[in-house]
Amino acid sequence: MAWNPSQYLAFAGPRMQPAIDLLNRIPQETPGSVIDLGCGPGNITPLLRQRWQDADIIGLDNSDTMLERARTACPDETFDHCDITAWQPDRQYDVIFSNAALQWVTGHDTLFPHLLDLVAPGGTLAIQIPRNTDAPSHRLIGDVIEGGPWRDLLAPIRDAIPTQEPAWYRNLLSTTAQSLDIWETEYMQVLDGDNPVAEYTKGSQLTRFLEPLDEAARGEFESRYRDLVIKAYPPESDGKTLFPFRRLFILANA
Ligand SMILES: C[S@@+](CC[C@H](N)C(=O)[O-])C[C@H]1O[C@@H](n2cnc3c(N)ncnc32)[C@H](O)[C@@H]1O
Repeated sequence: MAWNPSQYLAFAGPRMQPAIDLLNRIPQETPGSVIDLGCGPGNITPLLRQRWQDADIIGLDNSDTMLERARTACPDETFDHCDITAWQPDRQYDVIFSNAALQWVTGHDTLFPHLLDLVAPGGTLAIQIPRNTDAPSHRLIGDVIEGGPWRDLLAPIRDAIPTQEPAWYRNLLSTTAQSLDIWETEYMQVLDGDNPVAEYTKGSQLTRFLEPLDEAARGEFESRYRDLVIKAYPPESDGKTLFPFRRLFILANA
């Protein structure tokens, strides 16, 4: 996936709050080893370092552009190129942290138990994934897919998005986790700018649908989406745009 770190970080504030909330719920005070799966542009790494000053912290990601930004932003930290689907370390970690990344990786039924197996006894698997699929920002992507010549190309990509209901994750992990806490939060994001929901989505969810299209189709897809989304999220009287966004959190102790 061709990630654009600048487009992603244009909304760094609202995107980081869930990571802060997830981090604050992890009980370990002095973990020796921490993995950040799908670390992105390194925006979360300083938060991890601030909390766990002496830990070995490694960020893993499979995007060269994101890793380049991360290494520039945090030159003293360690970032490795790695595809989560192929991640088979020969050791366990005290904390495995993943914010807003695992919605890009299919096969949660095997991936999440595998990740919990890679947590050392007493350690924590901490995951946040967006679950905003019922909101107009995401439903309108579906409308554009259905209404255009790209339907056969893009519908299978939409249908492969792996995110499940909270109860599904509870049933998946409850027998192996020592303790399990799952919750959702809907953030009332307040955005600045012109059609900011379209801009926000372009930095994340929309990328998976724009990337397979040629340049002309990409422009047409984006233009149809922007026209719909501005009507669904008109600016308030103060010029700000409200973008409620639901996210799912999983905290599993090994
Ligand atoms: C939305 S960004 C989140 C970045 C960061 N964790 C944050 O909270 O801001 C998703 C990240 O997951 C990475 N990612 C997606 N699929 C991946 C995979 N299969 N292996 C490794 N990284 C992946 C992307 O490259 C991207 O950097």
